[in-house]
Amino acid sequence: MARKLAAGNWKMNGTQAALTEAQALTGMFPAPSVEILLCPPTTLVYAMAEALRGTAIHTGGQDCHAHANGAHTGDTSAELLADAGATHVILGHSERRADHGETDAIVRAKTQAAVAAGLVAIVCVGETLEQREAGETLDVVRAQLQGSLPDTIEADKIVIAYEPVWAIGTGKVPTLDQIGEVHADMRKALAGRFGDDAKMLPLLYGGSVKPTNAAEIFAVSDVDGALVGGASLKADDFSGIISALQ
Ligand code: G3P
Repeated sequence: MARKLAAGNWKMNGTQAALTEAQALTGMFPAPSVEILLCPPTTLVYAMAEALRGTAIHTGGQDCHAHANGAHTGDTSAELLADAGATHVILGHSERRADHGETDAIVRAKTQAAVAAGLVAIVCVGETLEQREAGETLDVVRAQLQGSLPDTIEADKIVIAYEPVWAIGTGKVPTLDQIGEVHADMRKALAGRFGDDAKMLPLLYGGSVKPTNAAEIFAVSDVDGALVGGASLKADDFSGIISALQ
């Protein structure tokens, strides 16, 4: 069985003052039955990891460089993230694929760098609205999985997040059947490539997950959790999603 994970992606939001939201979650979930993760901006990773030290809530980054430390001004290596207290890192988010031209090959290299540094890599895939309307969703997602993952994996170091680009921050959510179709296909493709290890990989859904729709999404087969954007910024909202997963 894949482990269950509720992950929050704060994107480019979160000043020091927002740490109170993370601390509030620790009080609400002192001993959760699922994994909980918050991925703040890089500027807040160390402070959040310190604030959450000794609690059940993990801290993650939102990206890392594909190379080890060196002359890469403005970038953050996986090793530096881990040193700051991160245990996870989101990779290949559609906003990075679109804003920074990240290809599957780049995401794959970053995934290898993250795992080598001891981080859990949350690898994001998902189709655009155009691709869905053209009936290309499963092909696009399969190709992204194929290209973004290394040939060999450690099952406890990889998480997959299916985030349809058109559902991110829009309030639009695929039907439960559409989510189920993609997740089942991802599991099948991963099993074809990694055998039994595929069963252990958490498959997260992301895109306009809210406390109000989380339970029905988590009831879909092969959905092992969520990668949450907007609704992870406030403890009151994110706690509703975590509770639905528990
Ligand atoms: O990575 C999470 C994400 O892209 C979904 O964002 O705001 O639609 O939950 P949101």
